[in-house]
This record gives sequence, C-alpha cells and structure tokens, in this order.
Amino acid sequence: MRVAPSIIAANFAAFQKEIKRIEKAGADLLHLDVMDGVFVPNLTFGPIVVDAINAITDLELDTHLMIVNPENYLKQFIDAGADWISFHCEATKETDACLEYIQSRDKKAGLAINPSTPFAKIKQYVEKLDYLLIMTVNPGFYGQEFMSEVLNKVEQAKNYINEHKLSCLLEVDGGINYANACLVSQAGADIVVAGAGIFKQEDYTEAIERLRCSKV
Ligand code: DX5
Ligand code: ZN
Repeated sequence: MRVAPSIIAANFAAFQKEIKRIEKAGADLLHLDVMDGVFVPNLTFGPIVVDAINAITDLELDTHLMIVNPENYLKQFIDAGADWISFHCEATKETDACLEYIQSRDKKAGLAINPSTPFAKIKQYVEKLDYLLIMTVNPGFYGQEFMSEVLNKVEQAKNYINEHKLSCLLEVDGGINYANACLVSQAGADIVVAGAGIFKQEDYTEAIERLRCSKV
C-alpha cells in the first residue's frame, strides 16, 4: 500500500524538519487535514498553510477537506498546491460540480465518507472518482481508535470497483497502526493515512514500512 502521513500529528513547531524527515522516510503522499470547526468540532489550517507546505516539499499534497460547502474553497486549495483533493459527501449538495471542477484543474478528485454513511449513498459517484476516502474514525482529531466495523464498507467498495472495472483508488483514514494495517490492506485499501501511527513513533522509516504491509 501507499502510505500518506497525516501532518496534524507532527510537531508543528518544527514543521519544516518534520516534513524533511517524512520525505526521507519514504512517504508517498503528504496528507493535510483541513478542518473548519463546523463540519467537525476542531480547527486546523487553510490554503495559506497548504501554500507554505507546497513551497518546501516535492511530495504530492493529499488535501482532505473536512469543511462545509467545499465548493466555495476548491479553487483556493488547488491554487495553493493541492494535488489530491477530497471533500465529504455529507458536507455539500454539489458533489458532481466539485468533482468536475477538481478534474478540470487536472487534480485527483476524491470523495470522503464518514463511518456512519453507507456505501450505497455514494455508489453513484464511484465511476467518476480518482479515489474514495473511507473514514475509520469520526473525523476531527488524530489519535482516535480505529473502527473495525468499517472494514466491511472497504470490502464492499473494493468489490464494486472490481466488478465494474473502475480505476477509483481506495484510501482509508483514521486510527491506522501496526495492529490493523494488514487488515485494511486485505480489505482492499490502496492508500493508508496515518497520523499518530507515524508521527508518534520513534523511527518514521520503520513506521511507514510496517504500515505498507507489503508482506500480505
Ligand atoms: C481525522 C483525520 C485523519 C487523522 C489521522 O479527522 O482526517 O487524517 O488525522 O490520524 P490518526 O492516524 O492518528 O487517526
Ligand atoms: Zn484525513
């Protein structure tokens, strides 16, 4: 699996150093969690910070928008350097327009779904997606416990993608650690996001390698 470290679990006072360390450790993408205090009960950062990060790394920026009405901000995040950009199906009535806009800018378009949202609710969009981001925690904070009951949904999505021969990738986000990464891989994930599972470990290289679960 590809591994996308989530920067909100990093040491913000040493941001540049943390990003260099994570590059050297073999990260495939850098996951940026954008929270607005409305869609989720927490605040993080906006396009200005994405722009600053873009200036100091060549890693592709996987920008996860946990904000209401993402359609109002897509342009700013893409202008700031977002390469992959996902928004929540629960946060907008403009899903089609958002996907079309992101792809018209030649960026990877992702749709994110909360643990309680059934796959059936977003099935109609899968053929249009570059990736589907399945949350395995309720979004808002890093360091929460993995919800193993969501693995069924990952399998369901994978089966649907395979049956319909679609190119949509599956990204899984929330509470991923050494103990569950291989289950996530077996369920069909192509990309895993990890915050505490990397940034709260001593050795980032070892953490990323173990989370890849390449032996399965
Ligand atoms: C949750 C975020 C996740 C989270 C990952 O709201 O979308 O990306 O920060 O962190 P861990 O892996 O610690 O759950
Ligand atoms: Zn995230």
